[in-house]
Amino acid sequence: MHALIESLELVASRVADPAPLVYARLFAEHPEVEALFVRDRSGIIRGQMLQVTIETLLDLAGDGAYASGLLQTERVNHQGLGVPADAFDSFYRVLMATFRDIAGVDWTPAMEAAWTRTIAAATAAALDQ
Ligand code: HEM
Repeated sequence: MHALIESLELVASRVADPAPLVYARLFAEHPEVEALFVRDRSGIIRGQMLQVTIETLLDLAGDGAYASGLLQTERVNHQGLGVPADAFDSFYRVLMATFRDIAGVDWTPAMEAAWTRTIAAATAAALDQ
């Protein structure tokens, strides 16, 4: 099985909803972006953003056909929201670090390599216009 999928299954077996941990880490590392989520009182938008991000990473681990256009669009949309293009990719790194913490000693070198490779593909896809 692809190590990215394996890591997601491992996280899902330990934490029912990783969103609070992911966003706590995002806001700890980038306090300035918390205010941008002001409309999202219930957390639904944050949950949706997390889900779409994971879907695009899974797509990029395959042929990347769906992710590429979506990431180009979202990168531009997010600039409109107040997220600079270079900050956009930091969400992947926050996600990887959160999941690595949840996995603990069960995080494998193959998972580390798969995440590193897929994040590089996401960054490249979003810039490739
Ligand atoms: C640090 C980086 C990021 C920040 C600070 C950020 C911030 C935000 C904010 C503030 C919103 C809500 C806008 C609103 O009020 O409607 C949002 C929505 C969204 N973001 Fe991000 N974003 C980041 C990275 C990403 C990445 C990498 C993706 C990957 C696809 C993504 C996908 C989305 C999607 C799909 C939505 C819409 C969710 C919905 O309304 O259903 N974001 N983002």
